[in-house]
Amino acid sequence: MTDDNHTTHDAEEDARNRDIKIYVNGEILHRDEAKVSVYDSGFMLGDGMWEGMRLYNGTWAFFDEHMDRLFDSCKAVSLDIGMNRAGVLDALTQTAAANNMTHDVHCRLMVTRGVKVKPFQHPSLSRTGPTVVIIMEHSKPATSLQAKGIRLATVPQVRGLPMSQDAKYNSHSKLNCVIACLQAEQAGADEGLMLDPHGFVNTTNACNFFIVRKGEVWTSTGDYCMNGVTRQKVIDLCRANDILVFEKNYSLFEAYGADEAFLTGTFGAQTPVAKIDGKPIGTHSGIGPVTAKLQGLYRALVAANTGG
Ligand SMILES: Cc1ncc(COP(=O)(O)O)c(C=O)c1O
Repeated sequence: MTDDNHTTHDAEEDARNRDIKIYVNGEILHRDEAKVSVYDSGFMLGDGMWEGMRLYNGTWAFFDEHMDRLFDSCKAVSLDIGMNRAGVLDALTQTAAANNMTHDVHCRLMVTRGVKVKPFQHPSLSRTGPTVVIIMEHSKPATSLQAKGIRLATVPQVRGLPMSQDAKYNSHSKLNCVIACLQAEQAGADEGLMLDPHGFVNTTNACNFFIVRKGEVWTSTGDYCMNGVTRQKVIDLCRANDILVFEKNYSLFEAYGADEAFLTGTFGAQTPVAKIDGKPIGTHSGIGPVTAKLQGLYRALVAANTGG
């Protein structure tokens, strides 16, 4: 990576993160001591689910929506989390308290099928019950991204049909996305823009993707992408604020010609896109007026949701 390169998860440096404490199956340990087995289903096979969440004013933003996705994902792959939503919240609360964290915190909550008795695939070999790990970091998205925007490259790796590995599983196995990211990096971009099996613009390797054309906000149908919590909030905000929004098929032709483009995700909220395949997007090098308006509406929504 050069100084010009960004990832959508660039955060301001925070020395406190060197000494964070991590939740591992009920124990809270210094990051250097926090470990899982080499027989863990997540390590061996990517057999696990995770959520990325943010803590503001002592409250997890959109907690119910994240739990809906986590519990639905785990149910779909018969992974018993071993606790209910209140139990998950309690584990999060304990971890935040151990770290003295209340605001501008990013968390990765991971649940795997647990430790296997042999190094093979069959889920019945995972016999310990789930492995639950919670990593929390002090985290403020880097402000430089807002000014510069992200550079996307369209990549050969596509989002598949839901009957292969449905993109709605927020699974530990992100190889499809990692391959897309590598392809983008090798093309000199920051993140990969992925098409669906029909060639329509779908999503990026780590975020959902929106364009703005003549004041209208467009995103993909949702059939092949992560059912992002932030994606849905942006759609809802458009509807509530008289901004025309469409979930529809569109091609690179329309993406290249967009007035604005932005990514959505829990970490970065709305991140402006500066270029796609080397072509500048719109006339704003970075953030445009509709993206800026949605950022303001989203900030207010997060504040309302977290009592800020
Ligand atoms: C592939 C992918 N797309 C989009 C997102 C954004 O989802 P959310 O807005 O729920 O953070 C994520 C986050 O986990 C993701 O992994």
